[in-house]
Amino acid sequence: MRLTIVGLGLIGGSVLLGARAMQKAGQGISRLVGIDANPATCRLASDWCDAVYANLAEMDSAQPFEQASEQDFDCVLIATPVRQYESIAGQCKHFVPESATITDVGSTKACLFDAFVKACGAQPPNLVGGHPIAGSEQSGFGAAAANLFEGKLVVVVPGEASAQEHITRVRQLWQALGARLVELPTIMHDQLLAYTSHLPHLLSFALVHYLGRQRDNDDMFRFAAGGFRDFTRIAASDPVMWRDVTMSNPGPIVAAITGMMDELEGLKNLIANRDAAAIHELFARAKAVRDYFSRSHHSSRQSGAPMDIVSRPCQSLEGVINIPGDKSISHRAVMLGALAEGTSQISNLLEGEDNLATVQAFRDMGVEIEGPEDGQLRIKGVGLRGLHEPAHPLYMGNSGTAMRLMCGLLAGQTFTSRLTGDDSLSQRPMQRVIAPLRQMGAQIRSENDNCAPLRIEQSTGLKGIEYQLPMASAQVKSCLLLAGLYAEGITRVSEPAPTRDHTERMLSALGVEVSRNGNVVSLTPPTRLKARNWVVPGDISSAAFFLVAGSIIPDSDILLPRVGVNPTRNGVLTILERMGADISFVREEMVGEEPVADIRVRTAPLKGVEIDAELIALAIDEFPILCIAAACAQGETRVRGAAELRVKESDRITAMVQGLQALGVQAREMEDGAVITGGPISGGEVDSHTDHRIAMAFAIAGCLADSPVRIKSCENIATSFPGFIDLANALGMRMEAVAQA
Ligand code: S3P
Repeated sequence: MRLTIVGLGLIGGSVLLGARAMQKAGQGISRLVGIDANPATCRLASDWCDAVYANLAEMDSAQPFEQASEQDFDCVLIATPVRQYESIAGQCKHFVPESATITDVGSTKACLFDAFVKACGAQPPNLVGGHPIAGSEQSGFGAAAANLFEGKLVVVVPGEASAQEHITRVRQLWQALGARLVELPTIMHDQLLAYTSHLPHLLSFALVHYLGRQRDNDDMFRFAAGGFRDFTRIAASDPVMWRDVTMSNPGPIVAAITGMMDELEGLKNLIANRDAAAIHELFARAKAVRDYFSRSHHSSRQSGAPMDIVSRPCQSLEGVINIPGDKSISHRAVMLGALAEGTSQISNLLEGEDNLATVQAFRDMGVEIEGPEDGQLRIKGVGLRGLHEPAHPLYMGNSGTAMRLMCGLLAGQTFTSRLTGDDSLSQRPMQRVIAPLRQMGAQIRSENDNCAPLRIEQSTGLKGIEYQLPMASAQVKSCLLLAGLYAEGITRVSEPAPTRDHTERMLSALGVEVSRNGNVVSLTPPTRLKARNWVVPGDISSAAFFLVAGSIIPDSDILLPRVGVNPTRNGVLTILERMGADISFVREEMVGEEPVADIRVRTAPLKGVEIDAELIALAIDEFPILCIAAACAQGETRVRGAAELRVKESDRITAMVQGLQALGVQAREMEDGAVITGGPISGGEVDSHTDHRIAMAFAIAGCLADSPVRIKSCENIATSFPGFIDLANALGMRMEAVAQA
């Protein structure tokens, strides 16, 4: 790619340095040109690019684009202040060929497209907006860094006319610089940024300005401490840049300031009225939102380098460990708690990132939720029809379950909503819920080729249908049952093989008429749901890593108390027992609707087995760790009827087979499964494909390998199993999280 960067400040300069590193490494940058009106910046930057010019016209006179081959000139990145866009757009019209992509880095987007419409008469197909969320209060080329975008979020903003090839090129450029991507429409981008970036900057400027105007401000600043420093850091940003941002996004910014003034007015009144309870509630809700934000949006994955795990061979495992709460049940408890009337208390909620995203989604729809703290969550349910329209898209993180179940629930609401997710979730198929929900009368569509983002229009009424699931999927079944809560008439779902039945059990417990006849589940819509408390059992899908570890690592003896052993989830127990594992239930009881057991596992020699579709549906999330059991078993293990695994957080069949092969294990892919022959495991490096369960499975493999195994990109483990490494090490494993090289 021949890349031209117009404007070499912090962001443009950092793109230049990053691209220069790629060029040196022979990674796709063939020519790098810098443009900046400031001669001093050009002099500084000249060491890092093939040529520098003062503007596009000067560049063109050196090499007119009519004479340049297409391949020689294919991307112009505008990194000037946004107020210069009109003049740059005029230059682009004359000096940039139509085959070249034009993109930018500005923090408002309508002004980019407006500038080009003014210069060219219409939005050009080669124009695509971009916005790296990577700025700082520093500015200028001197502050630029080659790795500024690594792990950072870049918002790609296609215009109405943007052609796919140009969108793809912009995506490729940022991905090559190490960024994570999300796509947003122009208006939404500008509105969101008005709230999350522009408003805080303006508040910070205003506060410092206000205090600066007070008499004796010297005294005041002398007593100002960390809080003042933290809150006002961004008031040290470049005033010219922020003047320009403000001028280029006035509508959304004025709306945000108006909302904020109402908020302050409300707080002022609460204080004037000495309303301690309301003030506490406001602060507690704000803290919960802030805690959620810190955990979910500033985990290591986003704020810096991705994390690898190095897992070293270990001896025996021994001990008692508490497995965190079940992910599936935690999602459902939050959803049903929000829709019930009255307060629901949830104990042992999984505080994984996915579940926290679900909690946040309901807060965004006006539900008051306290916690989670130590697994305790209190939800003040708003009833089936009490949710409010969210002000922005609901972010479902990495979770297919949350997104698909929410589709059913939102299809019945009288407001419009949008659902977004991370990169992995944005590639997972959603047609499986879109098609049947449409049959029920929902207006739901994908904004991205049958994947998220999804848009669900306000309901004009749903009707119950009879639906035969094309695949064994508890997510699709549950989605339709939740939509069925809002439908007229009975909803009937028939499944090709039994899948987890938590939704049915939990709805029944709330008094909803849910019945099963053979493979058909029927739901009669209730008038209301009455709140109740939930105790979430330990997640058998998380326990599975230790069930396998305890089986294959010599002289091990592990006890896992209070793990859910629902018969629609216990495929992993059946399979391991068939393989010869020594697993026993020390104590069994019912906790609410779910059977729970203390599970003991001791080392035993395993043998290869055949696993078919029916059994795999009962162990759908345990395939990765069962592959490790198979690699340690005597003989061959064959898994069939598991094509669904190709559309999980990663293609788990390919990911497991490739990883096993990288560790010297004989493994072969089939379209709907895998064949694995047990044998020695060597050390080495495997890619987790950012899939939490692949990462944990190979971390267990490392315990038995002949030398350390390094598993790449394990940061997503926190989506389902926060604290995995600590628990593993408490049993005697030797795992270490390390920054990615
Ligand atoms: C889940 C169902 C399964 C499973 C997922 C959780 C649920 O997905 O893989 O981790 O909570 O309903 P499918 O139903 O799509 O197989």
